[in-house]
Amino acid sequence: MTTTFESTAQQRYELDQMDDGYTAFAASYPSINQTRLLDEWRQTQYSRLDANGQVYLDYTGGGLYSESQLVEHMQMLRTSVLGNPHSANPTSLAMTDLVEDTRNYMLQYFNASPDEYIAVFTANASGALKLVGEAYPFDPGGHYVLTFDNHNSVNGIREFARTRGAQVTYVPLTKPELRLDRTKLDDIFKSVATGQNNLFAFPAQSNFSGVKHPLDLIDQAHDNGLDVLLDAAAFVPTSHLDLSVVKPEFVAISFYKMFGYPTGIGALLIRKAVLQKLKRPWFAGGTVNFASVQGNGYYLSPNEAAFEDGTINYLNIPAIKTGLQHLEKVGIDTIGERVRCFTGWLLDNLLSLRHSNGKPMVRIYGPTDTKMRGATVTLNFYGPDERLLDYRRIEELANAEGISLRTGCFCNPGAGEIAEGLTAEDMMAGMIHGPDLSLPHFLQVIQHRGNKSAGAIRISVGLATNFADVYRFMNFAAGFRDQNNLNIGEVTFDIQSCRVIRDGS
Ligand SMILES: Cc1ncc(COP(=O)(O)O)c(C=O)c1O
Repeated sequence: MTTTFESTAQQRYELDQMDDGYTAFAASYPSINQTRLLDEWRQTQYSRLDANGQVYLDYTGGGLYSESQLVEHMQMLRTSVLGNPHSANPTSLAMTDLVEDTRNYMLQYFNASPDEYIAVFTANASGALKLVGEAYPFDPGGHYVLTFDNHNSVNGIREFARTRGAQVTYVPLTKPELRLDRTKLDDIFKSVATGQNNLFAFPAQSNFSGVKHPLDLIDQAHDNGLDVLLDAAAFVPTSHLDLSVVKPEFVAISFYKMFGYPTGIGALLIRKAVLQKLKRPWFAGGTVNFASVQGNGYYLSPNEAAFEDGTINYLNIPAIKTGLQHLEKVGIDTIGERVRCFTGWLLDNLLSLRHSNGKPMVRIYGPTDTKMRGATVTLNFYGPDERLLDYRRIEELANAEGISLRTGCFCNPGAGEIAEGLTAEDMMAGMIHGPDLSLPHFLQVIQHRGNKSAGAIRISVGLATNFADVYRFMNFAAGFRDQNNLNIGEVTFDIQSCRVIRDGS
């Protein structure tokens, strides 16, 4: 049994170690010193992390909110009387003003001229993407081109495209960096018939590998006669999207990923030039200027109202402006630089982890330096005999240490399949099991097809991360040295929990 004296001495030793670690880190990444405001915020705005002993490493899943965002929003709610914005009474008009003010603020934030773009409030990025899928005029002769690296909510648009007879083509990724194969992309773009309704969809940043795909693809797609859907959900929490420089037709985002609060609101930015070719498949409350039962017709509202079905999440919308202002107080470039430093340090240290026999302990999927990548690092652990260590057990051990990381396929099956070397045959071997196929079941199937994994561990850092977080994770990771078998028999993970992984982002 350790005495209080011993445990205090141990803690002091660990703190000294961490101080030494920080000194070495700051020497390698000196620009961390320009981000000290975020260390202050960690104490003032995000103190609940340390108060709860939590190491939060899932910013790609969801950002964290600050104290001041909550206070400001609650204060607004406490002091205002606000009605449903679909009316013309004073409380409704007050709410409409707040909603429109937030809409304009959002356009300004992304440097989108109101002459060029409209901003639609949605429930999340997936809601924004679905609006595009439903309304884009896919037809025979047209093409839906998308990258292997995409969230399922972008993959899902292929079902709208196929149903309406458009051709669907995936752009492959190169290994090991998981970047787009530009030669294949050029060929695909050239094969697209101009003058048709063609849409190219890609993520500005991968939620699987952290790769930042080049935004000059937008101009290249335009030059080849394709409209562009940019999924910016994983990009905008740590990078600036400037819509005066790049002009995709559609941009999808989720605000909770940027600043944590509120959940349940996203946006679709639509370039006005493309509006007239969109066709909404239905009308709803709030989307029409006029609708008649006996007249058997309706006239959709112009612009954003035509895309906002029913009552928007109006009381929470003003918190979006507060959240954007919160990011502006520190500056998105400062956030980007801070997470670049932590990501670089994590990559350097993870890559240097070795078993006693010299074998590497981890494989990282995607770029292993900080060039053109964001703060998402996806990996698997391997034993000294080069056998994969089960990521479900690793997650369970991380949970026990208060470390929140993500495991599974992160709703990005295409990037995962390429990263993990899964072939079409491997996938078909699973798919033949029918609709009950779950990730654990699939894992069993592919175990018989070689030392492959379906799924990985994702760690992602963000605005409230500090050195202690990444240091604690590295200590945890180093604990797998010389581990060959993790006792999966003790895992409490069950088949149902995989549904949570599958639904997650
Ligand atoms: C790149 C990317 N696109 C889309 C989404 C979907 O976001 P939401 O679940 O908020 O709709 C996510 C969520 O993680 C994402 O990372």
